[in-house]
Amino acid sequence: MKIGLLGFGVVGRGFYELTLSRSDMKVGHVICLEDITLPGVNVTRNINDILSDPEVDTVVEAMGGLHPAWDFVKAAIEAGKNVVTSNKALVAAFYDELLPLVQEKGVLFRCTAAVGGGICWLSELERVRRCETVVKLGGIMNGTCNYILDNMTRNGLTYSDALKQAQALGYAEANPSTDVDGIDTWNKLLISCNVAWGVSLEQSQVPAAGIRNIKAIDIAAFAEHGRACRLVSTGEMENGVISAYVQPKLFPVTDLEANVPANFNLITFEGSSCGRMSLYGQGAGRYPTAYNVLQDCVDLTRGNGFYSICTGKVNVCNDGKLCFYVRGASDAWLDSVTADHWGEGVITSPVSVSEMHAWCAEHPDVFMASLA
Ligand code: HSE
Repeated sequence: MKIGLLGFGVVGRGFYELTLSRSDMKVGHVICLEDITLPGVNVTRNINDILSDPEVDTVVEAMGGLHPAWDFVKAAIEAGKNVVTSNKALVAAFYDELLPLVQEKGVLFRCTAAVGGGICWLSELERVRRCETVVKLGGIMNGTCNYILDNMTRNGLTYSDALKQAQALGYAEANPSTDVDGIDTWNKLLISCNVAWGVSLEQSQVPAAGIRNIKAIDIAAFAEHGRACRLVSTGEMENGVISAYVQPKLFPVTDLEANVPANFNLITFEGSSCGRMSLYGQGAGRYPTAYNVLQDCVDLTRGNGFYSICTGKVNVCNDGKLCFYVRGASDAWLDSVTADHWGEGVITSPVSVSEMHAWCAEHPDVFMASLA
């Protein structure tokens, strides 16, 4: 396998290093904006060096972002190259276009590292579909947020110190608001639901709330009530209707999720006969993520592409009701649904997920978390 590698950041460099000891693949070209020299590798800024090299059978995209990453991936597929990507934003945004294009051009595609970093979540989710109906999926999908919440809870770090550490360790996105506002988890949830149910969710109907506004007083109130906060995704299918959303959730301190440390992810599905199955591992970081990119390349050498299908757009319904912790604003609506008080926050009576997210969108300083 001769590879054209797009991007030489955290993941791209890690992947390149992992290939050096292998005889079944070689990075021949690297697209990189910086002036670097790599022995025996053409370092370039020109995608045409890769597209026009007939020996390059596989393009590995680790640039991140939507453009030019998508333009390059699209051009590679159109040129008949197989593609591996770790770019969740790209896969989530262009899912409906990407899968048919891959099929039409008869190339192989994989994106395991796009969800869960080093965890084989997506490749297992695809296998699940061969035998099972997925009834529920989701969990901790963002290493940066988990690192922040874990360090605030267990080590008493401030939010900003924990975020700085996560950035220094290479866990955070180029713009960390993508992590802390739940967008990264949202991208990963969309991909997971699409793979699990063979559809493309109507993205505007999937809300996301993040952890940007969490404070030490919230963490203390949760601890007093035997809870720990984690940012989680939820996707459920009942009678053909899908609900999907991202929000912080307060887990009893004895639950697995409450004990997930540092940059680790814990992602779970429930199958119709296998029941709960959870995958746990490092969800961010150079080598764990590069490991899954490498695994995808090995799969391609064996002719194993991503075999998901996409039957079209589907609506999402988030009418299910939950109780929420809310701190940072008050108004007549919140008063009308307040059932209890925890520290400076309130606990609501059951409120629909869509109603709570709509209210939070109008109160940007609020911190909110569900109790279940
Ligand atoms: N910023 C992401 C995270 C990287 O923290 O999980 C891995 O997708």
